This record gives sequence, structure tokens and C-alpha cells, in this order.
Amino acid sequence: MTKNSTIIFDTNTFSKLNSFLKKGKYSRLIVLADSNTINECYPILAKNCALIQKADILEIDAGEAIKTLDACKELWETLSEAQVDKNALLVNVGGGVITDIGGFVASVYKRGIDFIHIPTSLLAMADASVGGKCGVDLNSLKNQLGTITQPKAVFINTLFLNTLPQRQLANGVAEIIKMGLIADAKLVKAMQDNKTLLDTLIKRSVALKMAIVKKDPNDKSVRKILNFGHTIGHAIESYFLGTKDELLHGEAIAIGMFIESLIAFDKKMIKTNELQTIVDLIKPNYQVLEFSQEEEQKIMELMLHDKKNKNNKIRMSLINKIGSCKYDVEVNVSQIQKAFKTYHQIIGA
Ligand SMILES: NC(=O)c1ccc[n+]([C@@H]2O[C@H](COP(=O)([O-])OP(=O)(O)OC[C@H]3O[C@@H](n4cnc5c(N)ncnc54)[C@H](O)[C@@H]3O)[C@@H](O)[C@H]2O)c1
Ligand SMILES: [Zn+2]
Repeated sequence: MTKNSTIIFDTNTFSKLNSFLKKGKYSRLIVLADSNTINECYPILAKNCALIQKADILEIDAGEAIKTLDACKELWETLSEAQVDKNALLVNVGGGVITDIGGFVASVYKRGIDFIHIPTSLLAMADASVGGKCGVDLNSLKNQLGTITQPKAVFINTLFLNTLPQRQLANGVAEIIKMGLIADAKLVKAMQDNKTLLDTLIKRSVALKMAIVKKDPNDKSVRKILNFGHTIGHAIESYFLGTKDELLHGEAIAIGMFIESLIAFDKKMIKTNELQTIVDLIKPNYQVLEFSQEEEQKIMELMLHDKKNKNNKIRMSLINKIGSCKYDVEVNVSQIQKAFKTYHQIIGA
């Protein structure tokens, strides 16, 4: 099994990062950031961590559109031209796009160099930076290329959230809701009451994810429950990628969880009150889009490409009560169509 990474939270993250870098005796430090995090986050990091000031900097455009093999190739070429050796460390400073692409670039360059994540978006802190999945999209298909490689460490400091736009915060909350729905009813209750500190929610979300990943690091069994909401959500995200209606990952997953919960309800896996809890968490807080027949058809086609399907049958992870989830549940096309129809009725479309 791959060794789990060290996860460092808040207090003293920066001094712990400094000690980590000192101890690592890396030949070179390379920071990967995007056009926003280079301005909003890198200066905070450099101010608080002396060794980071010596790092070389790689900057890429912000946004999902950069999560491509072309972008990786450019990064590999830059690393190679700069003669970065096997003992270098890549420091990924950004949201889930940076941790996904940076992890992948590091895991492949010279058959793998060490990397660490410094997540700066809520989504990356609560989800994307832990668990070791990294990779890029292939054309419009999400996360088709990648590896599962654990970062050496993840340093989570919510100080970075001060500059994160509101829409991006809601985006991250969607993955925390998912974590509660699949693994922790108490976390769902905390989200409903809306009184728990964000730091506590992030910590819980990370602990839950790590516990699942530890049981199944290579995504062969129980780790698949982390895909709840993602079969339909990824297809919706892919469909709108690059259009004027492009959705953020968490926003697409919120709709995905809504519709997949309707399938679970239809299969009698969850009760009316549980479905209501989910609808109440999602409907008022996310843009619940209406899909035309044609859009629904295209989304369905994208779903058939989803990597979770075997023999062209659609397999989903569906919750069987709040805080519990089953994986590899077979779902047929007509059940999905029915769920889309009910979804449209509920949102009043
Ligand atoms: N590997 C995994 O396990 C995993 C899990 C969930 C999601 N993901 C991936 O994560 C990606 C989404 O992550 P994301 O929502 O963080 O997207 P992102 O990396 O694009 O970040 C969102 C936006 O916020 C900006 N930003 C980030 N931190 C900031 C800060 N502190 N201040 C100001 N702006 C800041 C970024 O520049 C970007 O514009 C998707 O590609 C998704 O597939 C991966
Ligand atoms: Zn996700």
C-alpha cells in the first residue's frame, strides 16, 4: 500500500512547513501556482516560510481549462530545461486544479519526484488535496488521465480562504456535504445547523476521507463511495466545460448528488425525510439548472464514458441512508431519466 501522507492543520503550518523543507534536504524547491494563487497566496507563504523564498516559480492559468496534458507537457519541458533533478520537491500552491495537475506532473516527471500540497481553496482543503488522486482531463472528459500518488505532506491553513471568492466557498461546501452524506450523519447535522466553524468541518471532512482512502487506496472498493454525486455531476460538469454556463466542480456535484439521491429514493434506498434533508441542503444554496431534452441526452452520453462503468452498464455510488453509501450499484438509463424528470418537478422547471 502507498504510504499515507502527513496532514498538517492550521496552527504552526508555516513553521512546520519550514521544518519539513529543512529536513527534506531537497536539491531544489519549485512552487506551482496559478495566476490567482501566485498573487493571493504565494506572498503569504513566502513571508511566513523563509525557505519558500528560494523556490523557483511555475505559473499556469487559473481554471479547469488548464487541466490538460498539453499544460503538463509544457511543465515537464520547463522542468527538464531547467535541469530539475529527481531530488527536487514540487510545492503545489492552489486549489484542486493545481493539486491535481501538480501531483500528476510530479508523479510522472523522472518517474516521480516528491511533492507537497498547500491547498488554498476550500474544495482543495476539504477534499482534493488529500487521498493522492491526481490527473488531468482528456478533451471534455474529466480526470481521464492520472495516477494515485500520495503527496509527502499536505499543509492546510485556512488563512488563505480570506481571499477566496464567495462562489468558490459554496463550491467547496458541496464536497463537505458529500462527505457527510456518505459517511457521517453528524456532519450533515452540523451543516444543517450552520453553526460549526469551517475549520472543524474541513478537519472532519479530511479525517473521513483519509479513513476511507486508508481502507482502499487504489479505488477498487470502498473508496468508490467518494464518487457519490460524481457520475451525474461529472457528466454535467463536462457538458458545460468551456461554455458560458460553465459550472464549478462542486456546483456540478451538488446537482449530481440531488439527482443521484432521487435514484436512491426510487430504489427505496433512502426515505422521504432523508431525501428532503438532501434537497434542503442543496436547492437553496446551489444553482439548480434546468436541462433540455437534448442536454439531458448529451449528459447521458458523457455518463456512459465515465470511468466507473463496467461493460457499458452505469454503476453508481448511492447513499442508503444519511451517512452511509453503497458502491457499484447498477443503474439503468430509464432510472436516470426518471430521476431527471423528478428533479425538474422539484425545482419547478
Ligand atoms: N483529486 C481529488 O481527489 C479531487 C477531489 C475533488 C476535486 N478535484 C478536482 O479539483 C478541481 C476543483 O478544485 P477547486 O474548486 O479548488 O478549483 P481551482 O483550483 O480552479 O480553484 C478555484 C478558483 O479559486 C482560485 N483560488 C484558489 N485559492 C484561492 C485563494 N486563496 N484566494 C483567491 N483565489 C483562489 C483559483 O485560482 C481558481 O480560480 C477540479 O478539477 C476537480 O476535478 C480533485
Ligand atoms: Zn469532487
